Amino acid sequence: CGIVGVLGNHEVSPQILDALKRLEYRGYDSAGIATVHRNQLDRRRAVGKLINLSDTLVHDPLPGRVGIGHTRWATHGGPSVANAHPHRTGRVAVVHNGIIENYRALRDELTLQGAEFSSETDTETIVQLTSHYLDQGMTPVQAARATLKRLEGAFALAFLFDGEEDLIICARRGSPLCIGHGEGEMYLGSDAIALAEMTDRITYLEEGDWAILSRAGVQIFDADDQQTARPLTQINVDTARVDKAGHRHFMAKEMAEQPAVLKAAMGFYSGLDHDRIDLPDAIDFASADRLIMVACGTAFYACQVAKYWFEKYAGLAVELDIASEFRYRDPVLGLSNMALFVSQSGETADTLAALRHVRPHVAQVLSVVNVPTSSIARESDVALPIHAGPEIGVASTKAFTAQLQVLALLALKAGLDRGFLSGEDFDARLAELRLLPGFVAQALDREEEIKRMSEALAQARDVLFLGRGVMFPLALEGALKLKEISYIHAEAYAAGELKHGPIALIDTDLPVIVFAPHDALFEKTVSNMQEVMARQGKVLLISDAKGLAEAGDVPFRLQMPTVPDFIAPIVYAVPAQLIAYHTALHRGTDVDQPRNLAKSVTVE
Ligand code: G6P
Repeated sequence: CGIVGVLGNHEVSPQILDALKRLEYRGYDSAGIATVHRNQLDRRRAVGKLINLSDTLVHDPLPGRVGIGHTRWATHGGPSVANAHPHRTGRVAVVHNGIIENYRALRDELTLQGAEFSSETDTETIVQLTSHYLDQGMTPVQAARATLKRLEGAFALAFLFDGEEDLIICARRGSPLCIGHGEGEMYLGSDAIALAEMTDRITYLEEGDWAILSRAGVQIFDADDQQTARPLTQINVDTARVDKAGHRHFMAKEMAEQPAVLKAAMGFYSGLDHDRIDLPDAIDFASADRLIMVACGTAFYACQVAKYWFEKYAGLAVELDIASEFRYRDPVLGLSNMALFVSQSGETADTLAALRHVRPHVAQVLSVVNVPTSSIARESDVALPIHAGPEIGVASTKAFTAQLQVLALLALKAGLDRGFLSGEDFDARLAELRLLPGFVAQALDREEEIKRMSEALAQARDVLFLGRGVMFPLALEGALKLKEISYIHAEAYAAGELKHGPIALIDTDLPVIVFAPHDALFEKTVSNMQEVMARQGKVLLISDAKGLAEAGDVPFRLQMPTVPDFIAPIVYAVPAQLIAYHTALHRGTDVDQPRNLAKSVTVE
């Protein structure tokens, strides 16, 4: 899941380990490093957290001034030392993200030629193939190039060669890689965050590129093996640097950042002191007859909220799907449709594949991303960054609220473009959006209360979340957050659907969390809540002053600020996050790197 390479002038293992730590947030279950020292290729690997690799290195140091490292999130073959990267033969070591689709055919071919495999991984096929070419007398560059020609699938790769102390070869096809430029040193990383402590001078490889790195610099070749130049960009190291700023977890820091993030992002899209939206003119909602929205995970729930907004404020029909479903059905697409993809990382494989699938069939492809250099951003007609800054906690928080804010702005723009929303209504809604930082800060102030309530939740085996309208996706997000970081089974239902089945689950042990601001649907939701209480269900009602007063006697209550309907889903995201966070703390789980999860899923 994370790749690092260093061509240094000192021992590189500690530096590689350090860079891998900055990639920890992506999620992984084993790790390893390979170096070349006195012309000898060697490696160390360990299962579990990086501390285990670091312990291994203490007992069994790995000298060398050139090396590659990897954190692996298991796909082919479980997390074990044998399956951990780097994979190697006597001649070459490889670290790899992604999947080699034709590995079985290659493996059969190599086995016939006498190659002996020691793992079940697709990655080992790469090292065996490269070794085979080296055995035939090819140079490392020739062998790597010949190997790349044979590989099918989406991947990022780095090669290290026995006997070569001034060479790393890398390739990007479907999974991002960037090159860092140092003083007489060169680096390689899955993202600029990994390299932030080493350099702020970065070159992003383009899709299909491969590169030869030495301490003197880098030569980059495109997919047709033509040498090419890619721009060197100076990144803002402060934003790429990863620290918890005094918080106990990245998730805590990222939740706390939300008022500032929302305010700053608003500044990018709309002058802070005047009533307009600065969105690219190229976005054409006026002639669209349908908007197709596709995403995964939390980003999908942001789309689900936005569907209500596009329908209500812009009269625009929305079709919504999860990326992994959308791409494998036969959606009916038309040239008057627009497509919108939402992704924090901009690298999620399913979302990217869905984008590529619709591209030729629709009028325009938009994306809402947090990483402006990401594949999804590059491949869209218009990419709108959410300006949330790096999100490190695996459970998405500030990216969710920032995605919602940009989607809200887009819905208002669509309303205006389509003549559906009057100028007056537009101004009123925009003014409400400007109130978000204050309301989100007030919601965050309920933390102590939520912490107390979460103590009881931490004892639960299952939790049910309910909501109607825009609060239904919020219930889904609340349930997802809780599952992700506390490992408590949680489900969300549209409140009106409860009576059609899930009500059978209600008993005295099942906490039911209800999101219900005092809006047009409030009474309906409250009736569903009464149905739960009539069956001794333990309800926690999250509402505003008026809602709590009208709801009467409810076992647990959490008061939110009274907010305009339009922005309520963004404010109610905060209790959804805090409930999961504090429940997880009570259970002592690894909040920032929950088991089995990856931050950016670049495999299908
Ligand atoms: C992973 C993460 C989720 C995230 C989803 C989509 O599964 O664990 O938190 O919502 O991917 O990620 P994206 O980067 O596309 O928003």
